This record gives sequence, C-alpha cells and structure tokens, in this order.
Amino acid sequence: MRSKFTAPGVRVRKVATGSEPLVMVTAYDAPTARMADEAGVDLILVGDSVAMVVLGYEDTLSVTVADLAHHTAAVARGLATSAPDRSVAKPFLVADLPWMSYHTTTVDTVNNAAQLVRAGAQGVKLEGGRKRLVMIEALLDAEIPVMGHLGLTPQSIHAMGGFRVQGKEHGAAQELLADAKALAAAGCFAMVLEGVPAEVARVITESVDVPTIGIGAGPGTDGQVLVFHDVVGIEDRILPKFVRRYGDLKADAVEALAAYAADVRSGAFPSEGETYHLCPDVAETLGLYGAGSASLA
Ligand code: KIV
Repeated sequence: MRSKFTAPGVRVRKVATGSEPLVMVTAYDAPTARMADEAGVDLILVGDSVAMVVLGYEDTLSVTVADLAHHTAAVARGLATSAPDRSVAKPFLVADLPWMSYHTTTVDTVNNAAQLVRAGAQGVKLEGGRKRLVMIEALLDAEIPVMGHLGLTPQSIHAMGGFRVQGKEHGAAQELLADAKALAAAGCFAMVLEGVPAEVARVITESVDVPTIGIGAGPGTDGQVLVFHDVVGIEDRILPKFVRRYGDLKADAVEALAAYAADVRSGAFPSEGETYHLCPDVAETLGLYGAGSASLA
C-alpha cells in the first residue's frame, strides 16, 4: 500500500534548505482527487472555495462543517482508490474549517475539526493570525495538525470590504509578519499566504521556519496553491491576475455536450453498437416479431 505525505513531512519543506516548492491544489470530489494524485501534487486542499466554484455561492461564508465533511469524505475515498502503482507518497489531505466553525469556543473548534478528520482530513486549515492562537493551540492539543492562512482571507470579506490584496502598507505588512511568526511559533505545520505583495511574502517566508504556500503572493514562497477549477479552466467567469489556466475543460465540456445534444436530436445516438438486444428466442417468447419490433404481444 502507498504511504501518505504527513504533516511532519510537509513541515520540513523549506525551499531555503534545498526542498522543491510544494504543490497544492484544491479538490472537492473523488474524481478530482484521483486526477490530482495522478498529476503528482503534494497536498490536496478541500477548500471552502467549494462554496463558490461548485455550489454557486457568491462567497465562502455559506458553507458549513457538514458541507466540508461531505466533500472531504469524497476526496478521501478518491485518494483511497487512486493510482495504486505510483511509487511516491499520496498527497497530504487538508480540509478548510469554514467560517464560524472556529470563532466561538475551543470545544466547538476541536469538535468541528474532528468531523473533518473523521471524514479523512490529515490536517485542517483556518484563516487569521494572532487572534486565532487560542483555537490553534486547542487543535494542536487535540493532535490535529493546523495550516494557517494569512493575507486575503476570504472569510473576512465583509471586514476587508471585498477581496482585496492585503499588507500593502508598511504597518499592515508588519502586522502580517508578526501574525506569521506567531502561527509558526504556535506549531502550525505550514501556512497559506493569499493576496499579498510578493515582497511581503518573501520576507515572511525568510522569517518563519515552516513552509509558506502562496496564492497571489508571487514566486518567493515555499509552494503554490491554486483552485482546481481555475487551473483546468472550468471556472471561466473571473480570471484573477494570479491564476494561470493550464486547460480549457469548460470549452471541451460544452463542445462535448453540444455534440451529444445534436446526436440525440438527429437520432445518431444511440447507435446499433450502443444498444442492448434480447436473444431471438426470448424475443419470440415475448411475442416480438423480428428485430426492431416496437411492441410486446
Ligand atoms: O478555499 C480555498 O480554495 C483556499 C485556497 C484559495 C488557499 O483557501
């Protein structure tokens, strides 16, 4: 059986000490998890971005722990059956704690994270810096590895006044650096830096001894993360500056579906080769008279 990438294995992956950059991508179901594994990614994130790219919400605030657990379980099942012959470890599976699942009490936070772990996550990710330290410590006490997430934190959309790049002013950059150091000191095994100037991401990366994984944070982090639907071109309504599309699956899917619709309408589908038939003797016992008969006697 294939081994799995672990939190301690991720934690040591600093580019400055000679490691290759970490590759993380989101996945929300079994087939995408299998694709990500076959492509050789290091980490899979069941992100609360599922709200926007799969469930059709405007932001990430509507999804619940139950939603994330449902998608995490699907991804875990996909990974359990994917690429058994690969020689490299299976990707590390991290799940997002959604908004309001780690904002009230430490007991609620640990119980919510436990639901994600029981669904198959090996660690959880939560947004925010020093003000989340109490919850992070409670999770670590419960032996649940924690990934931090700083900068443009989508769960703070209303407080931030929209999806805006963070840490652009001197003071804000200093605050981000202090948050990053606090997360690393608390014991987070890695942290996402989203929507921050590359210079700030680079300084943070040089200042913490755990890997930083950037999205819209430039090339100076210890890894990169993108949303699956952006990478493969399923999501084509918005193209943030930091996204690079490596495929055009939406166009491919629309073309395939249009061809299917045309074939159904013209009668070209299904063909003889795509059709089941009765054996002639059974057809006869049912009173069917010859191939193509449309009625049972
Ligand atoms: O939910 C998500 O997809 C994320 C990534 C953008 C890091 O948090």
